[in-house]
Amino acid sequence: MPPADDDAPIFLIGFMASGKTTVGRLLAERLDWTFVDLDKVIEDGAGKPVADIFAAEGEAGFRKREEEALREVAARRKTVVATGGGAPCWGENLQAMLDAGRVFWLEVSPDEAVQRAGQASGRPLLDGAADPLAAARKLLDARRPFYERAHGQVETSGLIPQQIVNQILGQSMMIGILAEDETPENE
Ligand code: S3P
Repeated sequence: MPPADDDAPIFLIGFMASGKTTVGRLLAERLDWTFVDLDKVIEDGAGKPVADIFAAEGEAGFRKREEEALREVAARRKTVVATGGGAPCWGENLQAMLDAGRVFWLEVSPDEAVQRAGQASGRPLLDGAADPLAAARKLLDARRPFYERAHGQVETSGLIPQQIVNQILGQSMMIGILAEDETPENE
């Protein structure tokens, strides 16, 4: 069960290009909360883009920065956090999110993720792959067991961001973590 604290952060997890940033921004707007993109926090701390961190420090260096950034944002209140696709799959990150707030998985198929990401997406794990679709399928298979542990999930295919937000708000209400007056009607 997620924490009872109404102001605890909401974490969006899911594969690359599942829409976490777009949906997170919109969700924060609807709740009148702050939005934070974990990759952006990492980039600001490192003073360089994610691709450059991977190039200079390897994936291990990036994951270390990611864990530190997550620990910091998990303590914030009234905040929607869009996490990087690998964040819940490393170390204690997922448990930390489950303990600190409510976690929602935005589900996307590998085909759709690769299509949405496009070429030169700035995502080293896809851009560097000879066959991005095969790489995405393999990664998603390995990550699904982590994503499945979220408090709630939304299958995003065929939905516009506003509908995804509505589903998150609806599920939040059902599991009793948001009061009804915090879930305005879709405009
Ligand atoms: C990653 C996803 C990226 C970024 C980094 C690693 C991953 O974030 O954190 O490239 O391991 O799936 P998005 O999910 O926002 O693309």
